[in-house]
Amino acid sequence: MTSDIHSERILVLDFGSQYVQLIARRVREAGCYCEIYACDAPEEQIRSFDPRGVILSGGPETTTEDTHPPVPDAVLDLDIPVLGICYGMQALARRHGAEVHAGKRREFGLATLRRNGANSLMEALGKSSETEVWMSHGDHVETVPEGFRVTASTESVPIAALEHESRPWFGLQFHPEVTHTPGGQRLIESFVRQYCGCRGLWEPEAIIEDRIATVRAQVGEDGVVLALSGGVDSSVVAALLARAIGEQLTCIFVDNGLLRAGEATQVRETFAEHLGVQVIQVDARERFLSALVGVTDPEDKRKIIGREFIHVFQEQAEQLLNVRWLAQGTIYPDVIESAAAATGKAHLIKSHHNVGGLPETLHLQLVEPLRELFKDEVRRVGRTLGLPQELIGRHPFPGPGLGVRVLGEVRAEYLELAREADRIFIEELRAWDLYDQVAQAFVVFLPVRSVGVMGDGRRYDYVVTLRAVETQDFMTARWAHLPDEFLDRCARRIINEIDGIARVCYDISGKPPATVEWE
Ligand code: XMP
Repeated sequence: MTSDIHSERILVLDFGSQYVQLIARRVREAGCYCEIYACDAPEEQIRSFDPRGVILSGGPETTTEDTHPPVPDAVLDLDIPVLGICYGMQALARRHGAEVHAGKRREFGLATLRRNGANSLMEALGKSSETEVWMSHGDHVETVPEGFRVTASTESVPIAALEHESRPWFGLQFHPEVTHTPGGQRLIESFVRQYCGCRGLWEPEAIIEDRIATVRAQVGEDGVVLALSGGVDSSVVAALLARAIGEQLTCIFVDNGLLRAGEATQVRETFAEHLGVQVIQVDARERFLSALVGVTDPEDKRKIIGREFIHVFQEQAEQLLNVRWLAQGTIYPDVIESAAAATGKAHLIKSHHNVGGLPETLHLQLVEPLRELFKDEVRRVGRTLGLPQELIGRHPFPGPGLGVRVLGEVRAEYLELAREADRIFIEELRAWDLYDQVAQAFVVFLPVRSVGVMGDGRRYDYVVTLRAVETQDFMTARWAHLPDEFLDRCARRIINEIDGIARVCYDISGKPPATVEWE
């Protein structure tokens, strides 16, 4: 029963909300498959998706302008449950004759929501008639649309939630998808389960079974090669494919000399030793380093590292017989983002090389078993497949690795200092139980020297910066407010234990305007 997990689906229509992926993740957490389509998706596409329910996202537009993107006819014609969130609610209300007003009642942040009456989706928020919700809007619905009733209000917005009297159409001015709305997940779950009738087929074991069957059918008896990086996505692909096709899978792990401390050993132990995956480990440290001599520009470094990787990988892959497929750890946000890039909606700030370009040079077909999954789903699948938490919970690490964390020219000596300082920082984060509280943390090496004093002697050594950020999606990030005593301990250890580092800084730049990485 391989297609079962997709048989119940919710469609999320994207009106430009910064939270749209979060909405989709919540629906998946509620146990239902969903996809995100642009709000102007062709009617035919909406109908053929065959959703059990539709969620209309928020968005930056205003329905007070005549040109605003409307709720597509197809959505209302399908006669299935519809949940409009923020802009989605306003568009639904406008469509049914309500007035929407701009300004005046803007609200950003927590508000107290009061429920009006019984028998409504609002019951999912809990027994109490009052609850906190997260608001983020400029416009609001001013008059009750035809056929609807008001199911909740806040002090400044009398129409904070709406429901149709006879059809399963709902509107919420607040955002149930953000964690600041305490009952938000229950509300989405209630919409998905009770109103749309989805049974919760989308869960890790079932996803794994489905993927295994799909991969087997796709590759048959052919060999598959995978570039294993030690990151979460490629690791989960390796574990999944090992289960699906066993020895037909060969992983190639390239030690480019730009890895974190202990990474090569961990990959060998986890995959080759515990999971019995065939891993070819290539020591290409010299090769990458030589190619980087004298190169200081970040984009040049990225391109060189990407190019060398492709060469090394290709040399190895060509020696494998019967290989017709290249497995990749592409995940759903990559799919959405490349679609946005293709329509010109995204802006390139850094060229993120991973294994792009490989399929063309190797003439291999792609197998991408994680293409439908969000990162948190990839992690759950990985855990279910038995990958260790240390690997699954690992912070993201860029493809060019320490190559973009040693600023300017990459030298062996600098890499060693960066690696050691990073090891200490991460070790301390784990010891203080802070590792999982930040989204990403690492050390950046600055090739400048600073004067210090140690014992009776003068020191003139290098500088490193600690970077730790909090973020959901890495598009924006806040620098992590780590405790002073913790930072103090890291700085002391790094300066005392590493010969060659005289000074430690802490990066307090947000994104934007800074980026997470320094290069
Ligand atoms: P930035 O520096 O663009 O980073 O704010 C956002 C996230 O992307 C990661 N990153 C990369 N990942 N290849 C990758 O696979 C790259 O070239 C690359 N550059 C940045 C970065 O670590 C952060 O998680």
